[in-house]
Amino acid sequence: MPQLVIPNTEFLASFLDSNAEWKGAHQDGAGLEGDEDLTTAAGFEAFVAQLLSQETEPLKRGYVTCSYRWIVEDGHYLGSIGLRHELNGYLEEFGGHIGYGVRPSARRRGLATWALEHILELAWDQGHDRVLLTCDDENLASARTIEGNGGVLEDKREHGGSVTRRYWIQL
Ligand SMILES: CC(C)(COP(=O)(O)OP(=O)(O)OC[C@H]1O[C@@H](n2cnc3c(N)ncnc32)[C@H](O)[C@@H]1OP(=O)(O)O)[C@@H](O)C(=O)NCCC(=O)NCCS
Repeated sequence: MPQLVIPNTEFLASFLDSNAEWKGAHQDGAGLEGDEDLTTAAGFEAFVAQLLSQETEPLKRGYVTCSYRWIVEDGHYLGSIGLRHELNGYLEEFGGHIGYGVRPSARRRGLATWALEHILELAWDQGHDRVLLTCDDENLASARTIEGNGGVLEDKREHGGSVTRRYWIQL
């Protein structure tokens, strides 16, 4: 059975295995900025502390606070999901409230759909009555994940040659 857990350092080994599987691709919903030192226990500890601090403090100017949860199973890290507490101009257009990513070896098992369903409970507990979800128009896996959780397409917006689908989920 998968679980959504608050990020913690006990998942170092499987997080690194997962990181290798992503092969440098952007890990949606993981909160990685690209300058973390994940090769040492101290660096990983700092990354986890940075994720946790975002519950109450935005990472930097222009960012919003965010709750990160990790998708884990049998003690192994499988993916990440982040719930942004509010929208700013960028998130309203392109990013939405929630971002998620599942490591390549764990995809197509229903994990993203399950994780989104569970983070919606947290969104409700935090006082949201609806959340905005976005995905690239060509990202069928993400679109189906959103639609599987009741996402209603509001519109598609084009920017710089790519098209973003914008969905609302009523909680
Ligand atoms: C998008 C992503 C999170 C989906 O994770 P997942 O755990 O494989 O998703 P699920 O197993 O819950 O599948 C969700 C739905 O997408 C479908 N799906 C999954 N992968 C698919 C693919 N490659 N092509 C088409 N459909 C796909 C599933 O069949 C399922 O549809 P259904 O509910 O109609 O049966 C994962 O592919 C990923 O991490 N991608 C890279 C990061 C990313 O795109 N994040 C989202 C940014 S908006």
